[in-house]
Amino acid sequence: MAHISDLIGTDIDAYLLQHQHKSLLRFITCGSVDDGKSTLIGRLLYDSKMIFEDQMAALEADSKRVGTQGGEIDFALLVDGLAAEREQGITIDVAYRFFSTDRRKFIVADTPGHEQYTRNMVTGASTADLAVILVDARKGILTQTRRHSFLVSLIGIRKVVLAVNKMDLVGFDQAIFDQIVSDYRAFAAQIGLDDVTAIPISGLRGDNIASRSEATPWFDGPVLIDHLETVPLDEARRQQGDLRLPVQWVNRPNLDFRGFTGQIASGVVRPGDVVRVLPSGKQSKVARIVTYDGDLDLAVAGQSVTLTLEDEIDCSRGDIIASGNPPEVADQFETTLIWMAEEPMLPGRSYWLKIGAKLVAATVTEPKYKINVNTLERLAAKSLTLNEIGVCNISLDQQIAFDPYKDNADTGGFILIDRMTNATIGAGLINFALRRSQNIHWQALDVNKTSRADLKGQRSAILWFTGLSGSGKSTIANLVEKQLFALGRHTTVLDGDNVRHGLNRDLGFTDADRVENIRRVAEVSKLMVEAGLITLVSFISPFRSERQMARDLVETSEFIEIFVDTPLAVAEERDVKGLYKKARSGALKNFTGIDSPYEAPITPEIHIVTTKMSPEQAADLIVERLRDRGLIKGGWHGPEI
Ligand code: ADX
Repeated sequence: MAHISDLIGTDIDAYLLQHQHKSLLRFITCGSVDDGKSTLIGRLLYDSKMIFEDQMAALEADSKRVGTQGGEIDFALLVDGLAAEREQGITIDVAYRFFSTDRRKFIVADTPGHEQYTRNMVTGASTADLAVILVDARKGILTQTRRHSFLVSLIGIRKVVLAVNKMDLVGFDQAIFDQIVSDYRAFAAQIGLDDVTAIPISGLRGDNIASRSEATPWFDGPVLIDHLETVPLDEARRQQGDLRLPVQWVNRPNLDFRGFTGQIASGVVRPGDVVRVLPSGKQSKVARIVTYDGDLDLAVAGQSVTLTLEDEIDCSRGDIIASGNPPEVADQFETTLIWMAEEPMLPGRSYWLKIGAKLVAATVTEPKYKINVNTLERLAAKSLTLNEIGVCNISLDQQIAFDPYKDNADTGGFILIDRMTNATIGAGLINFALRRSQNIHWQALDVNKTSRADLKGQRSAILWFTGLSGSGKSTIANLVEKQLFALGRHTTVLDGDNVRHGLNRDLGFTDADRVENIRRVAEVSKLMVEAGLITLVSFISPFRSERQMARDLVETSEFIEIFVDTPLAVAEERDVKGLYKKARSGALKNFTGIDSPYEAPITPEIHIVTTKMSPEQAADLIVERLRDRGLIKGGWHGPEI
């Protein structure tokens, strides 16, 4: 690598030592491709000479061939070329580029500037000390500039460089620069960004990047690289906090050794320190700090270590080892959410929430409000769509240890993951725990599900019928219930049309309403299972996510999904209620199968193809299968069946 230092040639050891002791600044660049982001990063790599000789030769050749700069070096090609490489194979959203100067090392998170920008930016920004916000001098402050700045502030980056780029295209006009800077400062102050350094640059020509430009005699601030080399780092602040070690894995090679491995998120730790494991709250002392290179007397934020404790206490992946003020423990929070998926957020849907190494099921409520990033106004909202930011409550299926994000970004920041596709769909910051969750405790009851079911000589279960409108779900469910009833079983039926007359009267047929419809019905069926009943549920329940959620509420053997499989054409042909006709004419919106999706089960417990059998045959088959599963067998009263 053609690094600037002469030491490389003369004394490689001295060079490496010097390099090792340089401080490291992590930063992120925000701006779209059009703002000249790639050109700027390419320029930084070029000016710091962190480009391989062969890359340089290729860059010169490519610039002549396909460059946009008339044969001059097109720095964007350098970065975009790497981006293309990235797109071919592994799809990572953020590329970390490394470069260094004599004074400092740098890692810049480069995020592709397309629609999915927010997600990439949040990922890249979470570890950054500083953000370079690029503005095109011809365009000034745009909505996107405000959005990026808002995210930067939310994520907790306090230092901003406002790089007013393409100054060459506005004749290096000071008045234009001053206006942009004052517009920006006015906005930035409102979101708590007050450490802003503005620099007029041309990434393309290199003005005020590595050296002072003659074209801006009126500018007396620092040039970009100088500023990046000297800006104070955040490291010290992280080490001052209380110890937080999110446990990535429990290292147990043999019975004599049990270590807890992870990266220290904040604070310092020494052997002998009293620590607490959260959420359990158990206390112990640090016995050893084990690393690959031997034991340590001290470890600090940023280091990856394995701790052993003096006592045999429970501690598993996802727990936090802490000292000082312990993290809080709760299962409901107010959070600020940044939505990153094309599909809107669905209140009531169950998502995965990942915080540190912990993965838990989470549901999000309707936003309290969303934020207009231009005006910072709070707006009413029923959901969040791509790139929107809002404040929502979240509840989890178990307690977790956490810190409010403002106190600790590592233990207070999380992502949301779609349970069906595993895609990251949102990022969030925990604002605070909801007090209500701490004041409601589970009441233990002596008569339980099993005893209630025993009394009825059965085992409780949910028979979950799903299928298109008019597929025959209710007809078949009705026949099944009659048979079970005749056999002396205790049953009940929850039917979509009927429940929508009462409990769910307030719900319509938007995706969000359907999610809520199924959430409530799933909870009610769970109560019925608790009551010891065989519960027949007959709802279209078009989404896999919600059927999965219903399944997860009870024990594996208690949930039997029955797919009433009728092709759309057949259901439409029957059109018992005349609804398909209405939907086709446009008089009825969001009709399942027409302009609202139906996601068929992939592996239902029972699959009924209604075109191949009558409803009576279907009912016989289902009862047969229930018998096979031992669900309706025996009981101290009634006949053995
Ligand atoms: S679900 O999708 O939320 O599970 P649910 O089973 O409760 O639906 O209700 C479906 C019943 O509502 C249908 O059988 C039909 O009679 C009626 N209905 C009215 N409008 C619609 C619609 N837009 N889409 C589907 N069903 C509708």
